[in-house]
Amino acid sequence: MPVSHVTTIAALRERLDAARAAGQRVGFVPTMGYLHAGHASLMTEARADTDLVVASIFVNPLQFAPTEDLAAYPRDLAGDTALAEGAGVDVLFVPSGEEMYPDGVVRTSVIVAEVSAPLEGEARPTHFAGVATVVTKLFAIVGPCRAYFGEKDYQQVAVIRQMVRDLSIPVEVVACPTTREPDGLAMSSRNAYLSEAERAAAPVLHAALLVGRLAIDAGERDAPRVRALMTDLIEAEPLADLDYAEVVDATTLQVVDPLAGELRLLAAARFGRARLIDNVGATAT
Ligand code: PAJ
Repeated sequence: MPVSHVTTIAALRERLDAARAAGQRVGFVPTMGYLHAGHASLMTEARADTDLVVASIFVNPLQFAPTEDLAAYPRDLAGDTALAEGAGVDVLFVPSGEEMYPDGVVRTSVIVAEVSAPLEGEARPTHFAGVATVVTKLFAIVGPCRAYFGEKDYQQVAVIRQMVRDLSIPVEVVACPTTREPDGLAMSSRNAYLSEAERAAAPVLHAALLVGRLAIDAGERDAPRVRALMTDLIEAEPLADLDYAEVVDATTLQVVDPLAGELRLLAAARFGRARLIDNVGATAT
């Protein structure tokens, strides 16, 4: 079945209410478009689990700071439509800015304390409020049983999970593993910004995380030492401008030292115009 485009909240509700009345379960994949195999993996999972798959494409201005890449964010609706169709999406919700935020004013904001604060929250102080606000709104519009998010944005998943718990939103959040290029680079719409040399340098982010995990696997329990291993590797790459490389508790995202339990190693660095993030899991038993 060809994917159908819906641009208004009213038309989407009408379509989904009819599907739900017929007993269909709605799966939802929110995105900002410029879709790649990482997004497709979420859609494929939604297709396997639910009866009607909705994906949204909306470059959400609330989650970009004024200095960030909102205007430059890559867009390709024709390519996105083909990818979504190939992954089994039934409905692509593509609202305009005006449809989502009439008169351009946003008076209500969803702020998820604690888990939003470290890491990306420190680097981008208004980012997660923008994400939480638009995802709340999208959940209210779509009303999915299940919503699919990528572990590539690990802290985002943690923020959404906390928000769903705190606000009793009736949706099951499903986290899907990170899809990578053959050299380890996590797929990202922002990889389109990389020059050839930056693209060649970018896998250092994943390589550093793996070095950190290897150290933990080998028995290292000193958090600063793991951090230093990762930092040194990224800083040795001249095209990388390191933002952070951290090892934290996998659930709270707080620093743990000595390392214990389920952990997450996360890093962010700038390569030219592109600010890239990545993460891997580790266990210290
Ligand atoms: P976007 O960056 O377009 O990502 C949409 C979804 O795809 C997110 O859940 C993200 O984690 C997932 N994703 C991106 N790259 C991935 C990869 N390499 N492997 C697996 N999943 C990947 O994240 C957003 O949009 C926005 O913040 C959004 C949630 C849509 C709110 O505006």
